[in-house]
Amino acid sequence: MVVLGIESSCDETGVALVDASGSGVPRLLSHALFSQIDMHQAYGGVVPELASRDHIRRVLPLTHQVMAEAGSSLAEVDVVAYTRGPGLAGALLVGAGVACSLAAALGKPAMGVHHLEGHLLSPFLSADPPEFPFVALLVSGGHTQLMRVDRVGSYELLGETIDDAAGEAFDKSAKLMGLPYPGGPHLSRLAEGGDGTAFKLPRPLLHSGDLDFSFAGLKTAVLTQAKRLGPELESRKADLAASTQAAIVEVLVKKSLAAMTQTGLKRLVVAGGVGANALLRSQLNAVCKQRGIRVHYPELHLCTDNGAMIALAAGMRLQAGLETLQRGYTFDVKPRWGLAELTTA
Ligand code: KG4
Ligand code: ZN
Repeated sequence: MVVLGIESSCDETGVALVDASGSGVPRLLSHALFSQIDMHQAYGGVVPELASRDHIRRVLPLTHQVMAEAGSSLAEVDVVAYTRGPGLAGALLVGAGVACSLAAALGKPAMGVHHLEGHLLSPFLSADPPEFPFVALLVSGGHTQLMRVDRVGSYELLGETIDDAAGEAFDKSAKLMGLPYPGGPHLSRLAEGGDGTAFKLPRPLLHSGDLDFSFAGLKTAVLTQAKRLGPELESRKADLAASTQAAIVEVLVKKSLAAMTQTGLKRLVVAGGVGANALLRSQLNAVCKQRGIRVHYPELHLCTDNGAMIALAAGMRLQAGLETLQRGYTFDVKPRWGLAELTTA
């Protein structure tokens, strides 16, 4: 079964083709990505209407590229999958509209996929794929959640952010330091030359006794610190970046460990854009090794949004018998959509 996957929930247009024949992990045949970051950088963040228009421009050329690189033709596609949510409504509608039109033209079924299920399953495409059950730390620009995952389609929310997401904390702090959008990778690069203990920043909810997160106060503390530094900020920027990163990473690591203790599980999967963060990876690797916990990550280039994870999630849901494919082509999108809602008995 060959699945074409289309991702368009935010500022990346991603298209991919996987082979989900048999019961093994679907095989990635090819994937292509266009990032709109350069376009949005001028505005300091994603402009939804510009994002939608650019998805329209990119999605078909990327589809042709993916088919050519896989040496396949559209006639060989069995299912057309697309990100149904969560995300920006207009951006999602582009992917959904194109996927359903393409499926109708091919006489094949279309299938909506949950963006976070894509992130969460993306480590299955890595050289060291996880096994169920595991705890997943989902850390993206819009979400920060700990989930218990027993199998494909079984997602129990253990805790989540009550305000900003971890990626947002990176992005907003970076913006305060005058770094370009999206700030996460820039802040983490700047932090390499700084001292993470230079500034005392809050670790919100670290001792709350539950698995929830809060990052909004951190951004305010960074702003206060930046104002206090005044003209000195320029020369202390690397220290402030390193201290911000250290605060975010410490909370993510400690809460992940608390989730491992609470569930008694010995496998942790980290997914989403912030999962690319080198400090987060090195600290998690170190503490998990001490505790006999295996940690799994997506390949670095599949941490941020991409089409491969959408085609993969569709393929794995089909293999698990969780989807009834229909050749009906009406569609809707779900800009707000909790992952736990997918859980089947
Ligand atoms: O998963 P993703 O591509 O998009 C969403 O679904 O939101 O995640 C994007 C987020 C952004 O906030 C970006 O700054 C952050 O991931 N990010 C990073 C790094 N690479 C991407 N944050 C910290 N360190 C990184 N290396
Ligand atoms: Zn994402």
